[in-house]
Amino acid sequence: MSYITNEKIEQYIYNLLPESPRILKELEQVAKSRHVPIIGPLVGRLLHILARTSRAKHILEIGTAIGYSAIWFGLGVKQQKGRVITIEIDQNTAQEARKNIARAGLQKTVEVINGDGMKVIPKLKGKFDIVFIDDSKENYPKYLEMCINRLNKNGLLIADNALWRGEVLLESRSADADALAKFNELLMKKMQSVIIPARDGVAIAIK
Ligand code: DHB
Ligand code: MG
Repeated sequence: MSYITNEKIEQYIYNLLPESPRILKELEQVAKSRHVPIIGPLVGRLLHILARTSRAKHILEIGTAIGYSAIWFGLGVKQQKGRVITIEIDQNTAQEARKNIARAGLQKTVEVINGDGMKVIPKLKGKFDIVFIDDSKENYPKYLEMCINRLNKNGLLIADNALWRGEVLLESRSADADALAKFNELLMKKMQSVIIPARDGVAIAIK
């Protein structure tokens, strides 16, 4: 991952962070060796803090991967009896995430659903205090349309990769970068929103 702000500043912040809880530290190693694009300890802590300060009870995550971010959320809301539903399209990856989540002691807090977010979300009941989008980049604008009505009042819509290696700035850009640029514009129009330039950019919006 290249740095979108200043490499030295970003390294300074990462170096200040204490070690992540053991399971997350292990997953950071797994992600590094297998090139799994996880949010990392800085954005992980940000999600954890947002989940706790908002006293979230119902969190929806789109894009589980190996469960790293779901575990940060889960650790944030376990005490406040919050629940996390996370959707993963790949069956083997979903199974691996379930194992990691169980090892973190979060099997009652985090539920992994194996399926396509576009199809699973309309079938889910109820509303959410946080929706976190970290899935197929081309689907971000559609996920926004789909999820905005599923947020409770004061609910947070959070999205990873909002700056996509800085490619959202380019005039000639990939389909992924274009989808993210459109997503950012849509988000700013529809909700009270910010983009934090941590790691690859995190968009945070309140309903
Ligand atoms: C990449 C990073 C991500 O955070 C993600 O969700 C998908 C891909 C990447 O760097 O390729
Ligand atoms: Mg991501």
